[in-house]
Amino acid sequence: MEKRFPCSLFVSLLLAFFFLFSTNSSDALEVGFYSKSCPDVEKIVRKTVLSYYKDDPTITAPLLRLHFHDCFVEGCDGSVLINSTTTNVAEKDAKPNLSLDGFDVIDKAKAELEAKCPGVVSCADIVALAARDAVSLATYVVRSGKWSKNYNMYEVETGRRDGRVSTVSDAINNLPSSFWGIYQLKRSFASKGLNLKDLAVLSAAHTIGNSHCNSFAKRLYNYTGKGDMDPSLLASYATTLKKECTPTDNTTVLEMVPGSSTTFDTTYFKLVKEKKGLFHSDQALLRSQVTKNYVFSHVTNSTGFFHDFGVSMVKMGRNKVLEGKNGEIRKNCAVIN
Ligand code: HEM
Ligand SMILES: *[C@@H]1O[C@H](CO)[C@@H](O)[C@H](O)[C@H]1NC(C)=O
Ligand SMILES: *[C@@H]1O[C@H](CO)[C@@H](O)[C@H](O)[C@H]1NC(C)=O
Ligand SMILES: *[C@@H]1O[C@H](CO)[C@@H](O)[C@H](O)[C@H]1NC(C)=O
Ligand SMILES: *[C@@H]1O[C@H](CO)[C@@H](O)[C@H](O)[C@H]1NC(C)=O
Ligand SMILES: *[C@@H]1O[C@H](CO)[C@@H](O)[C@H](O)[C@H]1NC(C)=O
Repeated sequence: MEKRFPCSLFVSLLLAFFFLFSTNSSDALEVGFYSKSCPDVEKIVRKTVLSYYKDDPTITAPLLRLHFHDCFVEGCDGSVLINSTTTNVAEKDAKPNLSLDGFDVIDKAKAELEAKCPGVVSCADIVALAARDAVSLATYVVRSGKWSKNYNMYEVETGRRDGRVSTVSDAINNLPSSFWGIYQLKRSFASKGLNLKDLAVLSAAHTIGNSHCNSFAKRLYNYTGKGDMDPSLLASYATTLKKECTPTDNTTVLEMVPGSSTTFDTTYFKLVKEKKGLFHSDQALLRSQVTKNYVFSHVTNSTGFFHDFGVSMVKMGRNKVLEGKNGEIRKNCAVIN
């Protein structure tokens, strides 16, 4: 008995390991999913993003946001890219879409990939790769002052398939609002497999990009409907913002981080600490101990933040993905096959 025990334990461990391995290897997300079927996929997406970035570094923010919107609505399945049709109003055309952009970059990469390996690479994976590339460029190029085509902030798992559903109501029901507090944000992120630390880390994506006045103007003029201001916003900063945004302005766009909206760094944490986050949802990070500690302790810890950002992005990128034979590989990212 005593002799057989370790042996059967070994056999069952081996079986368990084999079982785990075999169900994981063929159709689940992994780094390098296309290494045989389309080995140049990462090079092609990087080259495409870089070509746009050289002309206009503001392309990084929309590309990053696109992956977030894709993953929060119907899982990371490229559904954010689908155009509305005569019979369906797609995610793209929901109100939170405001300023959603970068579709041309995804389409360009897709066209090159279709020429090289037709029908192989999903639009959802292109979005995930482009987000990583955008952030990597906005970090490395700015930090080092040099071009690096190859710096990756983190490795991206691939193997997602494209979905066949994209509706305006899904977008409205699944995207967090910039007026939400910590409780709603926590619940929304938890429903996507993300915890409070991920919330603090990923919210710092707002260290790049812009916002329309109407995404926060209520905080300046009429927060609770009594002509008041959002007390979580620094009053003197509200005064500054009021000079730029009238109460009904739908068109003016402000930099989320004044003066450095294309630099991916920890300035976001500094602004939130100073109560200068543009959104109520940004300031809500000070309302839980976990997120508040993260904000305060990463104002000057960019190495730690970049590491954590990669970890949380990979986690976000796993939300409700279609794998194996589910979904499809879209031919044109804007149209269901
Ligand atoms: C925590 C909940 C979040 C809320 C409520 C939120 C809300 C918003 C809003 C209202 C805008 C401005 C849209 C406009 O008026 O033009 C915005 C912009 C942006 N968001 Fe978020 N967001 C959240 C999380 C995230 C996450 C997780 C990411 C990415 C990982 C992200 C990336 C961005 C980027 C990069 C922009 C700038 C886009 C541009 O300049 O084109 N956001 N967000
Ligand atoms: C999808 O919509 C965009 C903008 O509305 C348009 O430029 C593009 O050509 C459309 N793509 C297809 C394949 O219809
Ligand atoms: C965003 O959605 C609104 C409808 O809510 C639509 O009128 C607008 O054209 C959309 N914007 C973009 C950039 O697709
Ligand atoms: C402020 O909001 C309240 C309630 O929504 C509304 O009745 C009032 O007209 C608003 N005031 C202004 C100045 O927009
Ligand atoms: C801004 O948009 C809202 C609806 O989204 C509309 O009711 C309002 O009239 C617009 N304001 C201006 C100044 O265009
Ligand atoms: C920087 O952040 C990382 C990741 O959150 C953490 O592990 C590390 O201890 C931090 N370093 C310092 C000096 O606080």
